[in-house]
Amino acid sequence: MVQLTLPKNSRVLKGNLFSLETDAKGKKTFKIYRYDPEKKENPRLDTYEIDLKKCGPMVLDALIYIKNELDPSLTFRRSCREGVCGSCSMNIDGTNTLACTKNINDVRGDLKIYPLPHMKVIKDLVPDLSNAYKQYASIEPWLKSTTETEDGLEKRQSPDERKELDGAYECILCFCCSTSCPSYWWNGDEYLGPATLLQAYRWISDSRDEAREERLDYLEDSFKLYRCHTIMNCTKTCPKGLNPAKAISKIKKAISERT
Ligand code: SF4
Ligand code: SF4
Ligand code: FES
Repeated sequence: MVQLTLPKNSRVLKGNLFSLETDAKGKKTFKIYRYDPEKKENPRLDTYEIDLKKCGPMVLDALIYIKNELDPSLTFRRSCREGVCGSCSMNIDGTNTLACTKNINDVRGDLKIYPLPHMKVIKDLVPDLSNAYKQYASIEPWLKSTTETEDGLEKRQSPDERKELDGAYECILCFCCSTSCPSYWWNGDEYLGPATLLQAYRWISDSRDEAREERLDYLEDSFKLYRCHTIMNCTKTCPKGLNPAKAISKIKKAISERT
């Protein structure tokens, strides 16, 4: 059997312990991935014991508590604190999700937190999303329309046309889906991944957009689109309950129907 060995500098070492003096009833242990590229050290898993009575109910509340009260060096992204900005995506208890909408009590035992998988890590829980955003920009995510309406007002949609956007416009670009997709892990430089493809579908299905053919032309590519093998991890993990795999299959169908 082939033996795979991780390079020495990628091994996650046991890190620092921030222990709670008292044996409080609400004590919870958080094990958090730490990595600082400037220190030229291996990544480590630090352990923080906290009294849950002292922080809010969500994982993000605990991270903020740790940063404010125990260890200001802990680095993570967050903004809205209510599941709409997509910044606090990370891997919690083995699943990619949003720290601000994940309840601490949903996790039994120690709570392990890692950055989104298979991305370069900038620091601690902050992944490098440059490639993901470059791919997002490549689908030109804006309304393309050159024709004027008869009355010179905005382009309107019927309720049915508007309904076509349901399940796509809600995407907050957290990239939980793309970073759970094995095809994206191995071919992320060329395969656009479920987040960007769901966004592409959002514009393809917009009745006001006039660049449908041009958009489909761009996607008709064995790497950009057809690396999706319908494994469905993306749909399983989406914290907004969206179905990127279905959007991808609709793009494939749209392409097949025009040829
Ligand atoms: S359905 Fe496609 S995009 Fe989703 S996880 Fe599977 S391969 Fe990736
Ligand atoms: S489809 Fe879901 S998981 Fe993927 S980026 Fe959008 S909100 Fe996040
Ligand atoms: S902080 Fe905005 S989605 Fe979590």
